[in-house]
Amino acid sequence: MRIDIITVLPEMMEGPLTCSILKRAQEKGLVEIVVHNLRDYSTDVRRRVDDYAFGFGAGMVLQCDPIFRCIEKLKSEREYDEVIFTAPDGERFCQPMANQLSMKENIIILCGHYKGVDHRVREALVTKEISIGDYVLTGGEMAAAIISDAIVRLIPGAIGDEQSALSDSFQDNLLAPPVYTRPADYRGMKVPEILLSGNERKIAEWEHEVALERTERLRPDLL
Ligand code: ADE
Repeated sequence: MRIDIITVLPEMMEGPLTCSILKRAQEKGLVEIVVHNLRDYSTDVRRRVDDYAFGFGAGMVLQCDPIFRCIEKLKSEREYDEVIFTAPDGERFCQPMANQLSMKENIIILCGHYKGVDHRVREALVTKEISIGDYVLTGGEMAAAIISDAIVRLIPGAIGDEQSALSDSFQDNLLAPPVYTRPADYRGMKVPEILLSGNERKIAEWEHEVALERTERLRPDLL
């Protein structure tokens, strides 16, 4: 899989993409993540990529030309399954969406910024608009990092124990059951007895029951 991220703040992407599972997945060759500085596609002498909004709206808007030039260059090199745009008015990101995207070959993530991007970009180039939640960030970079993380960890081989991706919260519309490690008794707080029993079937039943109870209590909307 290949993920191309287009941003005016490439340095902001460095941290999340170069640590932990995302780092290892790239080292193992499971995914190639390429960050593009939108300013490299500006024809302006000062590498500007934004301008004032027409009308009376305040704030700067990312211009069409650098974005068209960048995406057209990428598309001339390979075929893309999706051109994703991160914006607060996009479709709400969720686990089924991450599952679907993790099966794609090549995707572009265009990070929104400032007051927005010229709407012609969204109409002509973007195939999917994603919001990571009902709040407004200063830009789409963190959203792009979150989407990349959620996708990449699902690629077979990205996390050591593949079973653990399947038992995540949301994978079966249930919150995950609580987990414990040693010691079994910490300051009088005991690990549920059943987990020490060694009985695989009973433990699975208990985990399902607890998952159901937690979901009913904390996220009834999932049921
Ligand atoms: N850009 C600004 N806010 C955002 C959000 N909530 N989701 C995705 N991209 C954004």
